[in-house]
Amino acid sequence: MSAPNKSYDPVEVEALKPEEIDRAKDEALAAVAAAGDLGALREVKAAHAGDRSPLALANREIGALPPQAKAEAGKRVGQARGAVNKALKARQEELERERDERVLVEEAVDVTLPYDRVPEGARHPITTLSERIEDIFVGMGYEVAEGPEAETEWFNFDALNIGPDHPARSMQDTFFVQGRTEGEDSGVVLRTHTSPVQIRSLLARELPVYVICPGRTYRTDELDATHTPVFSQVELLAVDEGLTMADLKGTLDHMVRALFGEGLSTRLRPSYFPFTEPSAEMDMVCFVCRGASVGDPDRPCRTCGSEGWIELGGCGMVNPRVLTACGVDPGRYSGYAFGFGIERLLMFRHNVEDMRDMVEGDVRFTLPFGMEI
Ligand code: DAH
Repeated sequence: MSAPNKSYDPVEVEALKPEEIDRAKDEALAAVAAAGDLGALREVKAAHAGDRSPLALANREIGALPPQAKAEAGKRVGQARGAVNKALKARQEELERERDERVLVEEAVDVTLPYDRVPEGARHPITTLSERIEDIFVGMGYEVAEGPEAETEWFNFDALNIGPDHPARSMQDTFFVQGRTEGEDSGVVLRTHTSPVQIRSLLARELPVYVICPGRTYRTDELDATHTPVFSQVELLAVDEGLTMADLKGTLDHMVRALFGEGLSTRLRPSYFPFTEPSAEMDMVCFVCRGASVGDPDRPCRTCGSEGWIELGGCGMVNPRVLTACGVDPGRYSGYAFGFGIERLLMFRHNVEDMRDMVEGDVRFTLPFGMEI
């Protein structure tokens, strides 16, 4: 800063020349107008209104002027600084308003948008398929019967004419829950089939008995593409006066047509089960090729492996020993039974190639079968 000087002329002091003041003011105002955001405006403020800005430096020169020049220069610099500060304030408010509006738009939460925090579920196709089978039989007058999954050995084996030495009872097949203790005649197993519900139904119901028994069953298989230790079966039992294998065959024909379509027939192949006599394996005509793939290499069928037939399950006339075990007179009553696995049915009915998909519980597997919940 220069010392006071009587002959000092503000016009002669470069920084205080009117055109210099105006230029500094105009530059400041242009910079303020050009500041695009609050950060840029902060820099403009430091450069044009801060301690080392041209107008602040000019202001300091005023003190050195003679008194008569001081007023005029002071007024000019003061007005310029006032105009710059006013513009800064106005621009600051404008940019803050813009920022607030932008934040409101950008950070808005639309509470009406659909949300997916609760994932969509679906009924498992094993459930819908067993219910469909139940419906077919309920339509013919059958009742749905159930039994426990932890079952006594007597219900699961003995009463079904599966003696203590039968291979199905071995440690390789059966999950034992509670061993047979001294003095007790039956341990507890995870039921290896739904057939014990036959026994429970015969013991609990009045004759005649017509029941359809869906349920979960267990065997000590490793989980792979074609085996699962937890699976599902449906059991059918009818005990009445005068029932024959013709009734069994007609019933199975009806079930197959209701599940797979009109015109499909079934066949019974001789087989053995301890709880039926005679026993049979039941096959249905392949619902895809209807037998046309047999012996025709140009028309292979993946569903039946070009066999023309698909094996569905085991069946037969209820063994009189089973009826006797349940207190039913085999001289007066006869019965038929049928049992089959739902996983296998789902595999060929819906082209499911890997059983693991059915047990993993991935909703991407279940959703395409429909029936969302
Ligand atoms: N319980 C048999 C199994 O799991 C299937 C079966 C065969 C059930 C013949 C029956 C039947 O009712 O009559 O392998």
